[in-house]
Amino acid sequence: MTLSRKPLKGMRELTPGEKRIEDYIIKRLRVAGAAYGFEEYETPVLEPLDLFLAKSGNELAVKQSYNFTDKGGRKLIMRPELTPSLARMVAASGELIYPVKWMSFPVCYRYEKPQRGRAREFMQFNLDILGVDGLEAELEVFLVLKRIMNSLNASPGQYVIRYSSRRLASEILESCGMTEEEIAQAFAVIDKKDKIKPDEWEELVRKTIKDERNADTIISFTSCSDPDAPWLAEAAGGSKAYVEIVRFRGMLKDAGILEAQFEACVVRGLDYYTGIVFEVMDSGGINRRAICGGGRYDNLVGMFGGQKVTGVGFGLGLLTLELFLETYGLIPDGISGKHPADIFLAVYSDEERTFAVNLAEKLRDFGVSVEIDITGKNLSKQFKIADRKSIGYIAVIGPEEVASGRITIKNMSSGTKTECEISGIPQILADKNLCGEAN
Ligand code: HAM
Repeated sequence: MTLSRKPLKGMRELTPGEKRIEDYIIKRLRVAGAAYGFEEYETPVLEPLDLFLAKSGNELAVKQSYNFTDKGGRKLIMRPELTPSLARMVAASGELIYPVKWMSFPVCYRYEKPQRGRAREFMQFNLDILGVDGLEAELEVFLVLKRIMNSLNASPGQYVIRYSSRRLASEILESCGMTEEEIAQAFAVIDKKDKIKPDEWEELVRKTIKDERNADTIISFTSCSDPDAPWLAEAAGGSKAYVEIVRFRGMLKDAGILEAQFEACVVRGLDYYTGIVFEVMDSGGINRRAICGGGRYDNLVGMFGGQKVTGVGFGLGLLTLELFLETYGLIPDGISGKHPADIFLAVYSDEERTFAVNLAEKLRDFGVSVEIDITGKNLSKQFKIADRKSIGYIAVIGPEEVASGRITIKNMSSGTKTECEISGIPQILADKNLCGEAN
């Protein structure tokens, strides 16, 4: 039987070139979070199923998850998201200094149909603030998002941060007399609004929400793109959630976050959200999946008993972000092909090997990344290897170099050669801005 050469459908398998692109993105996400004082944390991939049943809801924890019973009879889940684990960790840590500002890069698992922007195994960047009840937390999270997009050279016209309020939507639906269960149903339908054609969606609303007036309310509410829209101002004007959203709009404007846009139809799919919810979308509409989704969740931590701690944050998909960057040509040329080694040391014969290995070690001590020949092939084959790996510089260590202590470094792209004392190599690579260059 021949084994398949393909990984399981939808699983994450990255070549070094693809990983370099992902690392380019991860680095910018980490730097953006650190700029606001966020610290990194980790949680387990494998979790009790109950945790996610209670926190993420049936749809994600059962229908869209990898769950199974282990050899000890425990019902487990491969985490489909991170927030319930974060809430548990915060509830269990007695001595946290609030506000807690944490970030993480979990690999998550969802049993979904793999398609563009949707995988079964995917990495998220999560960033959350816990212990702040006011909108200052939301504002800071939006600022981080803007900084992330800036640092990836995305311009404001290419993306939009769409936001709304689950509390506002609940208030409006409650005022029509809808029950909690009907409101949950309504949220699930509203969440599909941008995923299907407008007429199909309206049909779905009318099919799911039997009361015609309630269906009309949902359709009118979700078409509002401005808190001042007359329908909305009349339906909700003066309510707590309405006042909050108007205030938040002002805060965003004052902070210069002009890429934020109110869209009443944003509710996000997770039932634990209680307040402002948001998503980052490609404004060109080429990538239809949200690059990031998040919101305020005021009751998650408290559900573990003990102190009530409010939270706000987001999960950003590395895959969706990368597709967005690719669409707009924002992944710098050459990243995937850039080999980590600064220089390749070709070894003329076994006579020079010890000298060459010791030299390579010294250079590494200076922070130079060195790949040295370990194949024992002839020089022309070694050159070919260095060339195919696109290593920027090459130097040969032969009898003359050993005797004189001087070598010639060749720049592989320009062909120019520089002769120098061996001790001068780190300086030469540094001058060329290559030694230890960050992506
Ligand atoms: P979510 O909206 O389920 O939220 O996912 C957040 C982001 O993860 C999505 O916008 C998307 O970029 C990415 N994502 C989700 N599923 C997939 C998939 N199958 N393949 C690739 N990317 C995917 C949450 O997960 C919340 N826990 C986020 C959060 C953190 N809210 C507050 N704090």
